[in-house]
Amino acid sequence: MGGVRDGAALTRRGLLVGIGAAGGAGAMYAAMGALGLAPDEQDKSFTPPRPGDFSLRGRASAKVVILGGGVAGLTAAYELGKAGYDCTVLEARSRAGGRNLTLRRGDRLTELNGPAQDVRFGEGVYFNAGPGRIAPWMVTLDYCRELGVPIETFVNNNAGAYVHTNGTTVRARTARADMYGYVAELLAKATNIGALNRTLTKDDRERLLEFLRRFGDLGPRYAYEGSPRRGFARYPALDGGVPTEGPGSLHEVLAAATGRAITSDFGHEQATPMFQPVGGMDAIVTRLAAAVGADRIRTGVRVTGITDRADGVEVTWNGGSLRADYCIATLPPHLLAKIPHNLGPQVTTALRTPVPVSTGKIGLEYGRRWWELDDRIYGGVTETDLDITHIWYPSHDYHAERGVLVGYYNTDEHAELYGALTPEDRRRRAITQGRKIHGDTYGKGLLSAVSIAWERQEHIQGGWVRWPSFDSSFTLLQRPAGRVYFAGDWLTRLIAWQAGAMESARDVVTRLHQRVLQSS
Ligand code: ALA
Repeated sequence: MGGVRDGAALTRRGLLVGIGAAGGAGAMYAAMGALGLAPDEQDKSFTPPRPGDFSLRGRASAKVVILGGGVAGLTAAYELGKAGYDCTVLEARSRAGGRNLTLRRGDRLTELNGPAQDVRFGEGVYFNAGPGRIAPWMVTLDYCRELGVPIETFVNNNAGAYVHTNGTTVRARTARADMYGYVAELLAKATNIGALNRTLTKDDRERLLEFLRRFGDLGPRYAYEGSPRRGFARYPALDGGVPTEGPGSLHEVLAAATGRAITSDFGHEQATPMFQPVGGMDAIVTRLAAAVGADRIRTGVRVTGITDRADGVEVTWNGGSLRADYCIATLPPHLLAKIPHNLGPQVTTALRTPVPVSTGKIGLEYGRRWWELDDRIYGGVTETDLDITHIWYPSHDYHAERGVLVGYYNTDEHAELYGALTPEDRRRRAITQGRKIHGDTYGKGLLSAVSIAWERQEHIQGGWVRWPSFDSSFTLLQRPAGRVYFAGDWLTRLIAWQAGAMESARDVVTRLHQRVLQSS
């Protein structure tokens, strides 16, 4: 703050630059007001968002009402607040965060048409019932950095976890080694009998064979004969250990369908390393909400009407109404579509187009971390062809006494099947299925459980949405209807990621701000 250090040289502009640098645009405009600066002295330049440093500049006196206090709504309020906007977030549920939900001891999880569940986990134990992992390129991590949310590695991919298909359970490392091995052998065979001669030059073929030997850990005649990659029944130490039995024949490996273990290794969304906030995903919500200001977030407000007018927007709810210059609607589209509005039938049709997807998860708390102690599994995911789909092992608090497994994480018809059961029957079914992988241990030492069926969560009613195609309805809602903007992961190609909600909010806030600057 060079210009501010020397009191004698202090100018009003120098002071404002200093305040702007220290406190952001909002603080600068507040100071401008206090100094009585004329509007023509205000900085109207605009800086588009940069990852992790979203700074809006320019005059910003507009009032904005934000519908929905999930990640999109909070991000919008946070960014607009930085630039001095007057934001109010209306949230129908009793807490902000939306699907970013971390459950702990003392929480009560209610459900539409179902009994409430009281969470009875031990002290310090938590379960991320919604989002649980973040890829490094996602803007979510920039917000974690900016808001001071500590992060740790989320082990998404663990060769020591299992794959369970067609009634058989093997370690993921074994399944991968066999699939890579046999695929490499087949391709080498095709190359060596000349089947690829028209596609590949002689040099290409030699390079390919050299690669295949490494890819599949092939033997001298390009045959797959197993590999230490498959793992060990007893790992090497003073002697060479006892290798895992096998491999079976190519036919057996294909019939076992263990290729399912090769899922997320390469995808941009799921490749290792991934991250999670220390202590629970809701740290993001807590910090965002604190930065927005508790007084700006009104919970328990169920919006019943949105009226767009030439000079503003009126939002009504049972027992109140609010007028603002602009509105950002971040509710799930299928719920937003049901709220009376004057935005036109095209908007309603577009909002009704994405289809909500049912998703479910169960947190199983054990008093003994048998997956670490007995199976040597530290984080990661077991892939299955059962209706539980996945089992997640915790990527935190290793070696603690207790721990929570995600006993199922499923979607669509599997999620609906579990969602229709009572919490007790969900738990029972999840244990029955998990026993097929982990044996009797799975049913022992269970301390408590809590399950969520997102399609049954009031004011959310779905894990996420699926667009039949990203058609004109999608693009229509990416634009404002009068003074009403729409935001949410559902308006991005990052559906079901907090990053989608954040990117959408940033886009809307940028465009809204440009409009305010142009109209002033
Ligand atoms: N983003 C969701 C997940 O990580 C789909 O499972």
